[in-house]
Amino acid sequence: MDLKTAAYSPELFAACGQQMCAQLEAYLTQKHARDGRVTPVLDPPAMIAAAREWMQTTAPTSETGLQQRWSSMVDAMLAHAQNLHHPHYIGHQVPAPVPIAGLCDAVGSVTNQPMAVFEMGPWATAVERALVDALGEQLGFPPGTFAGFITHGGSLANYTALLTARNVALGEVWEQGVNVDAQAPVMLTQADAHYSIARAAGMLGLGTRNVVKVGLDDRRRMDPAALRIELEHARSTGRKVIAVCASCCTTPIGAFDPLPAIADLCEEFGVWLHVDAAHGGAACFSPKWRHLVEGIDRADSVVWDAHKMLFVPALCAFVFYKNRAHRFEAFRQDAPYLFDPTDPGKAEYDVGLQTVECTKRAAGFGLWGVWSLFGVDLLRTLIEGTFDLAQQFHQLLSEQSDFLPLHEPQCNIVVFRYRPAEWIALSDEELGLRQMELRRDLIGSGQFYITATKLDGSGALRVTIMNPLTTLHDLQQLLESLRALHTTAVSPQGQHETHCRV
Ligand SMILES: Cc1ncc(COP(=O)(O)O)c(C=O)c1O
Repeated sequence: MDLKTAAYSPELFAACGQQMCAQLEAYLTQKHARDGRVTPVLDPPAMIAAAREWMQTTAPTSETGLQQRWSSMVDAMLAHAQNLHHPHYIGHQVPAPVPIAGLCDAVGSVTNQPMAVFEMGPWATAVERALVDALGEQLGFPPGTFAGFITHGGSLANYTALLTARNVALGEVWEQGVNVDAQAPVMLTQADAHYSIARAAGMLGLGTRNVVKVGLDDRRRMDPAALRIELEHARSTGRKVIAVCASCCTTPIGAFDPLPAIADLCEEFGVWLHVDAAHGGAACFSPKWRHLVEGIDRADSVVWDAHKMLFVPALCAFVFYKNRAHRFEAFRQDAPYLFDPTDPGKAEYDVGLQTVECTKRAAGFGLWGVWSLFGVDLLRTLIEGTFDLAQQFHQLLSEQSDFLPLHEPQCNIVVFRYRPAEWIALSDEELGLRQMELRRDLIGSGQFYITATKLDGSGALRVTIMNPLTTLHDLQQLLESLRALHTTAVSPQGQHETHCRV
């Protein structure tokens, strides 16, 4: 068997593909049945060694041997995977994606349709533009007036949008660099904003120390009165404000900043409004939850991750500019071998002019596939289902004497603490440490995957409901599992040990 012929054989490809689909079908069926562990046993060195071993064994010499090896490889990938399709995965802000979205991505990957210029990935570019138009209109921007693109993740999206804000605010900075002798400009955001905002300030040469954290209200949203004070302070001390970065929503507890009041202030002070709607932009699709993002159409730039609440595989993050004229502001790049100056109209479709990436993965196929196959109503259903379930979970927590909900959820992120009677006297810090230990034990048991966060410096448990197949019954079981883990940790004499172990 000639290896090159085998590697490019359509027949071998089809046989491996059919085999893989059967394995994935069995995998999904098993996970939907809540069968088996949520998180595999996490042993990084052993996993790396196992992955390396696969690379060191000799390739099979027949097509049948290749098919068998492929099937074992898929088994290994599934056995060691984090199981987002298990309805007990309620951890990070990554969804159980609509599985067929993965197949759309596969078409793009097998044919390899990367983009920088239109000609490299014509259909991928067309799909991206169609999605930008449709999502931008969902945000409330009038058709034809705004611009946008897809990039590799929300962090890069925040960076690119804020690069544009910096270039607009500081004029010649792209060519001349940041003037370190001048009074340092500031960026205003809130304490719970995603770390990529501060990181962007570092990367943009603004300095993380010049990121000012505006005060919060009692629901951890940016307080417009505190924002006014910071804007006035910046003005009176002669410091330029690059942008006000609002969150829709914040990462720790899913708080939505009040955009109408913030937009009013940005207009009054002539400051760029950036909205990080990586997670909560999805509220636009729901008449029931749209009020959370009211005013988002007044933002100068918006970031929205489809690989969060639009239920497609990572990565697919959108950047929008309200004003189309800003679309080439981030990079004033001259690359004539790519962007043909004799055909300037085409630059409209050469997305590489607007992104950090030159070659960029065709990241829009998954969302385009789900939207085109099932219609936009599916997205609304999935979003509303997960948001609604979080409200029910909060209600459930409120009814338990041994659980403390720590906020009223605005979306599908819920933060709480377990506090049985014998922990009531603990300090916040000690109670927080118990939450971290309890979480580690829960994950180790394989029953659930949840995350932790810190509120006012103390640990808390955090769930993000991003699997549309998770039910209230699953969440009731979560509470039972936490109680049972705690009980197991109490010694036979009734003495509580210093930490929880199963
Ligand atoms: C509000 C917010 N912005 C940005 C990001 C970063 O997105 P990504 O992980 O795609 O880089 C996150 C990630 O959770 C987030 O919650």
